[in-house]
Amino acid sequence: MSNHTVTITDNATGKSMICPVKMGTHGHPVIDCQALPKELGMFTFDPAFVTTASCESAITFIDGDKGILLYRGYPIEQLAEQSSFIEVCYLLLYGELPTPPQLEEFTWSVKKYTLLHEGLLGFYRGFRHDAHPMAMLVGIVGALSGYYHDSLDIKDPEHRHRSALRLVAKMPTIAANSYRYIMGRPFSYPRNDLDYVHNFMNMTFSIPSEPYVFNETAIRALEIIMILHADHEQNASTSTVRLAGSSQAHPFSCAAAGIATLWGPAHGGANEAVIRMLQEIAHPKNIPSYIERIKKGDFRLMGFGHRVYKNYDPRAKIIRESCHRLLTELNAEHLPLFETAMELERIALEDSYFIERKLYPNVDFYSGIILSALGFPLNMFTVMFAVSRTIGWVAQWMEMMDEPNMRIARPRQLYTGAAQRNYIPMSQRQTLKS
Ligand code: CMC
Repeated sequence: MSNHTVTITDNATGKSMICPVKMGTHGHPVIDCQALPKELGMFTFDPAFVTTASCESAITFIDGDKGILLYRGYPIEQLAEQSSFIEVCYLLLYGELPTPPQLEEFTWSVKKYTLLHEGLLGFYRGFRHDAHPMAMLVGIVGALSGYYHDSLDIKDPEHRHRSALRLVAKMPTIAANSYRYIMGRPFSYPRNDLDYVHNFMNMTFSIPSEPYVFNETAIRALEIIMILHADHEQNASTSTVRLAGSSQAHPFSCAAAGIATLWGPAHGGANEAVIRMLQEIAHPKNIPSYIERIKKGDFRLMGFGHRVYKNYDPRAKIIRESCHRLLTELNAEHLPLFETAMELERIALEDSYFIERKLYPNVDFYSGIILSALGFPLNMFTVMFAVSRTIGWVAQWMEMMDEPNMRIARPRQLYTGAAQRNYIPMSQRQTLKS
C-alpha cells in the first residue's frame, strides 16, 4: 500500500482534503478523489473524461508516448506474430494464454454457438436493400436477447459466460450475412470444420455455385487486423459497453450500444475515410498539391496521427508489413489506389510538417488498404472492426460484472443553464425580442 497522497485545498474556504494516489502495474498514477463531494462539496470537471480513469482493469495497457500496447501483459507485436485470433480471445477473456487442451475446448465452445436462430434472418429482410451493414449489426445484435432466453440472467455466472461466448461466436455470422444481404446473395451458414477467420471469409465471400478458394496470405492479413483491433482499453465503444452494463443491462444490448458508438467516423470509421481520400487523390501525381492543401489546414491527412500514440502506433508498424506482404502476394502493388497510398506514405513521412508534429501513419491507414485488397466494400470496414472488438467488449463487461462493488455509472455535470425561476402562465408570456 503506497502512502503517496495529493492534498487538495479549497482557497475559498481554506478546507483541505488528502486524496490517496493509486499506482497501477504500469502507467500514470491516479488520484482517488471519490471523497471530494463529501469532503469539499465539489465534483471534478473533465469533459470527455480524458483525464479520468473510469475503472480498474487488468486487461489492456497502452503507453502512448512509448508506443506500447499490451494484452494481459503480452506485447501486441508478439501476439500478432505468433498467436491466432481465437487464442487472443481466450487470453483477453480469461487472463492467461491457453494450454493446447484449453484452446481446443474453448474453440469448440465458441463453435457450438456460431449458428443464428432462423428467426433472426427475418430481421435482415426488414432492412432496405441498400441499408448500411452497421445499422443491421446494431439491430440484429440488439435482437439476440429476444432469442436466447437460456442465458438472460446476468447475475448467474454461467449465463454471463454463455452470453459472452455467443457474442464472440455469432458476430461473424451476423456480419457476413449483412454483407450478403446488401449484395443480394443468399444467407450463408457457419462451417465449424473451419477456424474462426477461415469460417468468416467463407461465410462472407463464398457463393453457392462454386467452392471458395482461400488465400492464406489474405487470411493471415485479416487475422492480424483482428488481433490488433481486439481491445484498446477504455475507448469510446468499450466505455459505452461498460456504462450500459453498469445498469445491469444484458450483454447483447450492451454490445449493440458499443456497435452504435463504434459506427461514428471519429472512432471506427477512419479507415473508410482513408480509402475515400485515396480515391479523391486518384493518382500519385496529385499527392504534392493534396499535401499542400493539408498544410494550409484545408483538411487532415486521414490515417495519420493519434490521440494517444504520439511517437508511433505499434499496431501500424505490424500492419504495415502485413499490408506490403499482401499487396505483393495479390500482385496489387501497381493498382492506382495502392500505388497512391504507398507514395503518400513515403512523401508524408519525409515532410517536415508531419515530422515536426509527430504525425505517423496509424493503424487505420493500412487496415483500410488491406480490407479493400481483400474485397470488402467500404461500408463493411467498421463492421470488421466490430467483429474484432467484440471480444474486447465482452472481456471488459465480464471483468466489470465480477467486481463486488459494481455500481451504476453516473457522471455529474457543471450546470450552466437558467437559474431557478418560477413558471409563467401562458397569458403573461411575452415574445422574446431577438
Ligand atoms: N493531418 C494533418 N495535420 C494533422 C493531423 C492529420 N491527420 N493530425 C493532427 N494534425 C495537426 C493538427 O492540425 C495540429 O497542428 P497545429 O499544431 O499546427 O495546429 C497538430 O497536428 C496537433 O493536432 P491535434 O488535433 O492536437 O492532435 P490530436 O491528438 O487531437 O488528434 C487525431 C488526433 C487522430 C484526431 C488526428 O491526428 C486526426 O484527425 N487524424 C486523422 C484521422 C484519423 O486517422 N483517425 C484515426 C485515428 S486511430 C483510431 C483508433 O485508434 O482507433
